[in-house]
Amino acid sequence: MSEHELRVSKIRDGTVIDHVEAGQALNVLAILGIDGSEGFGVSVGMNVPSDRLGRKDIVKVEDRELSQSEVDVLSLIAPEATINIVRDFEVVEKNRVTRPDGVTGVLSCPNRNCITNADEPIETRFDVVADGVRCDYCSTILRADIADHIDV
Ligand code: CTP
Ligand code: ZN
Repeated sequence: MSEHELRVSKIRDGTVIDHVEAGQALNVLAILGIDGSEGFGVSVGMNVPSDRLGRKDIVKVEDRELSQSEVDVLSLIAPEATINIVRDFEVVEKNRVTRPDGVTGVLSCPNRNCITNADEPIETRFDVVADGVRCDYCSTILRADIADHIDV
């Protein structure tokens, strides 16, 4: 890629979340709990041309790596994403996200009557199903609005 085409600067150290479905970059930040007040560098590219996806979003977070539960939730909204670990300007690790069987303790159930919304010490658990994620306790299915129910 020529320098004319580089939209977002390279980073020295941190994580590049690449090949994010166009339109999902802000949801990626929500999943990571990033609002800019943390102090580390964050760059976001939206609707960047991509050979593979046509258009993509890209999120670069400096001086931070991602936990497995963050990657699990990311995979639900950005199934094609690649997670690149950058150290001293070099990509030292590149992983495609994989769809988990389920996610525990990271999403809240939208059903007010669900046991997980009562005052009980119960962790939420959603199974990943074909059309979204399904609450283990009340079977409510979250589809496009997964990002609105992140609880990390
Ligand atoms: N990147 C970065 N800072 C670096 C190195 C890489 O921001 N110091 C970014 C690149 O801009 C790219 C992503 O990390 O968006 C992956 O880098 P690289 O593996 O070099 O790019 P590609 O080979 O194009 O990756 P892929 O094959 O996954 O598309
Ligand atoms: Zn529920």
